[in-house]
Formats: sequence, structure tokens, C-alpha cells
Amino acid sequence: MASDLEKATTEAAGCSDVYNSPTTYQRLVNYIFGPEKKEVNPSSTTSTASAPDTVEHDLELEEELNNVPGSVTDINMGLSKQSRWRRLFFPQLNKHSLYVYGSVTALQNECARQEAAGVCIIHPFSPIRNYYIMFMVFITFINLIAIPMELAFLEGEHTEGFHLMIFNLCSDTLFLLDIAINFRMGVITEDSEMVLLDPKLIACHYLKSWFVLDLISAFPVDYVILIVKELEEDQSTTTYTASKLVRIVLFARIFSLIRLLRVSRLVRFFSEWEQVANSNMEAVRLFIRIICLFAMILLLCHWNGCIQYFIPSLQDFPEDCWVVRENLTHAPWIEKYSFGVFRALSHMIGVGYGSADPPTGEAELWVVMTSMVSGALMYTMMVANVAAMMTNVDAASKAYRSKFNHLEDYMSYRKLPKNLRSRISTYYQARYQGKWFDEREILNVLSESLKVEILGNLCSDLVKTVPMFQGRDINFINAVLLKLQCEVFQEGDIIIREKAAGDRMFFIEHGRVMVKTEQNFCTELADGDYFGEICLLTKCRRTASVQALTLCNLFSLSAEKFNEVLQEFPEIKEEMLSTASQRLWTLQDFEDQKQTPLPENGTKIKETSTLGV
Ligand code: CMP
Repeated sequence: MASDLEKATTEAAGCSDVYNSPTTYQRLVNYIFGPEKKEVNPSSTTSTASAPDTVEHDLELEEELNNVPGSVTDINMGLSKQSRWRRLFFPQLNKHSLYVYGSVTALQNECARQEAAGVCIIHPFSPIRNYYIMFMVFITFINLIAIPMELAFLEGEHTEGFHLMIFNLCSDTLFLLDIAINFRMGVITEDSEMVLLDPKLIACHYLKSWFVLDLISAFPVDYVILIVKELEEDQSTTTYTASKLVRIVLFARIFSLIRLLRVSRLVRFFSEWEQVANSNMEAVRLFIRIICLFAMILLLCHWNGCIQYFIPSLQDFPEDCWVVRENLTHAPWIEKYSFGVFRALSHMIGVGYGSADPPTGEAELWVVMTSMVSGALMYTMMVANVAAMMTNVDAASKAYRSKFNHLEDYMSYRKLPKNLRSRISTYYQARYQGKWFDEREILNVLSESLKVEILGNLCSDLVKTVPMFQGRDINFINAVLLKLQCEVFQEGDIIIREKAAGDRMFFIEHGRVMVKTEQNFCTELADGDYFGEICLLTKCRRTASVQALTLCNLFSLSAEKFNEVLQEFPEIKEEMLSTASQRLWTLQDFEDQKQTPLPENGTKIKETSTLGV
């Protein structure tokens, strides 16, 4: 597979510079398969792609991919010979398509499948599909604004009415064309696992799903109205025929409301957009949902405003209707529209603003009731969506606050002393720094190499400062990093108590500690030092107490993990034993000096070691 890939990349016309470059090639494969799947690439045995660079590499690679003049189709299918526009119908080589298909080869196969499916099938991940959806969203939105507006306010307005008529005729044609295009538009299946490219399957799927609704909403009402109007003007009709035509136009006007069903297209486009957009990016989905929500709310207000005016206009403005009461019968359409929207909002939000009198007629009553219900629905929809969004936004900070509140409740429930409470709060803030993550759980779902990369980043200071890690075999460093546990101690905390049993040792990332014994031996350790190892090596009790002198960021290594590492790297064991032995000598010396007065020449010779090393 890899050799095919290499061959394909070298054969690629126009893209060869990028794909032939061994570093880019290597990075491409790393990018797709991740560092642990290097065996896919024949040259990966010599690969030195350093893990911490991966993110930068991804970004650079993405940039390079974007600069490639064609797409993956050029690489494998030889489409570069064909006209440029055809490329727009095929999926592109980018981060998202790689995420969906998993590898360049799979993407190439997809292109081949599309090629086999026949002419003019638009792939759901192709650029043209994105442009088309954006264009149709725009047209649908304008339609959904213009249709009720025209129906309610612009009937008889010559200039605006004429422009709208032209626009409506164009969009009627477009929506009919859209139905035809949908028969050639690849479909992503419900589970997002497959893309249907066979024209028969696409047609079947479309006929079963949106076809009927699309067909009804694309009914070219404007053509009908235009023809009827032409007849009305041209014929020197009898009174009977004229009244019949007027009724037909009125019916056509109301019937034209079915075009509002085009809102279904908006819903579909948004959901497809969400589906095609990088589905593993919460931010993208959130953004799309917010746009969708706002668009729907705007539409609802607009429609409601139009209905407010449309119903009295259908009844030929009865005397007690709000339009007559506000003296708007002959006002310009923009004034009527503004009042209509104002009334709609007053009902929907439930704010009576003086001028909104109680409804008089039966029809007005129903309009107001509909407004109120739609307003309540809008409100619910908004609250539900915003709440859902807020739950997803900054979940770590929320978890932190909730845990902190829980902790505070616990402290007051247990009636802990003030001083202890403040120490606990300070610890919590220093340890989690405003965000709560279950690091163990997060790391457990990642591969070993990624874990090492993350830990390498987290413990970079430690690796730099601890002399034990300097110039060491990378395997040793990785083995230790994978086993470390982050711990924070505050000033004054007793980290180790003398004569206690020990279960772990510590590396100091930041901070200072005091090592002291009952015999008043004192020494300080700081960044890069380690302590607590003697107990693990000798399996005896702690030889000294260790107290934090400042806020300390430490990494601990449990006894079990410590033994595992030492078993694997005996040379480190030797080194640790020698340091431990020196430390014990120092302690012993100090004790001896305290107990025995110094001989006259001031020297004392050590005979035994408690370590037995
Ligand atoms: P342990 O005995 O497990 O717990 C106390 C720790 O203090 C001990 O391991 C050493 O890591 C550390 N320690 C003991 N003596 C000295 C010393 N002389 N200098 C530095 N650190 C010491």
C-alpha cells in the first residue's frame, strides 16, 4: 500500500514537488497514521519524526496541502489532464477528508469510486458542494424573508413588487433546478459511515426523504400568478370571468405560502453543513448551531410580523382591526411592516407596550394566540439551545467550580477550622488552577507515544533540571515519565515524616524543601533534586522528615513503579544507591558528631553502612 502511495505521489502531475519531498512525505504519513503506525511507510524505519513537533508539523502540512494546486484526485486519478472545474466535484485532500477516510490511499479509492459512479456526481466532501450549500442557504433565506413580506405588504406596490416578481421567478427556477441537482448529489448515510455515490441509490434516498417536500415547496407559483395576471390584463373579460380570475389570484397568493416550506431546505442545509463540517470539532458545531438558531429566531419574528398585517388585509381591514386603529391603511409598507413586527414581538415576548390593545375580532384573537405560542416556543428553543451550548463551553472550568463548591460545602459540614479551610482552598487553587481534568482518564485513552509526548511537555522543566535525567537514554526518561504523578504541597506541609513507612519518592519540579531529622540535622533541597528514595531502596522506615518551605510542584513515583524502573535500568539503581549511601553517611556523620566529641585531629572514620550496598 505504501509503495503504491509513493508511486502515486511521484506520478502526480503538478503536485510532485510537495509529495516527492521525503520530509513532507514522512510528515504526511505521520500526520495521517500517527507516530505509532510508522510501519505503513517504507521509510519509517529510519523515521526520526520527533513527537513534540507533531502539532507544528500538522499545521505546516495543512498549509502545504492547501497550497497544492490540485487535490488528491490529481495524485491518483490523473485528473490533472482534465479541466480544472472537474476537480471541484471530488473530495479534496485536507484535514477533514483525512479524518473521515483515515488515509490518502482510502481517499484515492474514494475518488476512484466516484469516477466509476459516473459523470457529474457531486461528492459531499467536494468544494463545489460547500459553495452550492452556502449559495442555496443564502437564496432560501432571502426567499423566506421575501415571500411573506411580498404577500402581506407589497401587493400593489409597483416598483418593489416588480423586483420581487423577477426575484421570485428566478428562485422558482433555481429551486426546480435544485431538485434535479439533488439526484446527482452524493449522500452521507445517517451513521456518517458511508457516502452513497451510485445515482440509483442517491435517487432512491432522495425520493424517500426530501423529494416530496422539495417538490411541493418548489411549485412555481409565481409563474402561475404571472400567467393569470397576463390573462387578466389582456382579455377584455366579462365581469364573471374577471371575478373568477381575481379569486384565482387570491387563491394563488395564499397558495404561494407553500413556498415557505422551503424552510425545510434551510434545516437540511444546516444539518448537512454540520455533518460535513469537521465533526470532531465542538467549536465548529457550536458555531453552526448558533447561526442556525439566530436565523430561525429572526425568521420567526419576521413571519409573525407579516402575519399580523396579512390577516386583516385578507379581511379587507375591518373597522376595529389594529391597522385601522393605528391609522396605517395608507401608510408606506415599511411603516406597516415595522408596526407588524413590533406587535408580533410584543406578543411573543409577552411585553404589552401600551399601544398593543387587546385583540378585537376573532381572526385577530387567533393571530395573537399563535404569536404567543410561537413566542413561548422560541423562548424555550433559545433557552434549551443556549443551555446546551453553555454546558459544552468550558466544561473544565465548570467542573472545577462545581468541585470547589462541593469541597466548601464539605468543609463547612465538617466544621473544619478556618486556618485549615484556607489551606485546603489554597491547595485546590494551586493544584487545579481553575480547570478540573481527570488527567489519568484523559491519558488512558491515548496511545503510549502520545502519552509520552504530553508528559514530556508537562515535565519538560523536570527533565531539564533533574541531573539524573541529563544525557540519559530516552527510553529511561519515557519509562519514568509515564509513571509519574503530579502532586502539589503548600508551604509548611510535611511531605515525609521521619520513621514513617514509605510508599513513594519525589522529584522537585519547582520549590524548596527542608530535610530534617530528630537529631536536628538540616539540609535543603530544591528544583531538580529528588528525595524519599532511601526508604524504597532499603525497605526500611523514612530516615528523615521532609517539609515544604515554599509552594512545591512535585512529581511522585510509587514504590511499585520505582522498582519496575530500577529493574529495567540497573545502572540507574547503582547511581541511586550511591547517592542514597552518601546521604546516609552524612546523616550518620552528623549523629556521630553529636554523640561523640570529636577527636583532637577532628576526623572520624565510618565503618558500616545501613544500606549494605
Ligand atoms: P527517605 O528515607 O525515604 O525519606 C527521607 C528522605 O530525605 C530520604 O529518603 C532522602 O531522600 C532524604 N535525605 C535523607 N538524608 C539526606 C541528606 N543527607 N541529604 C539530602 N537528602 C536526604
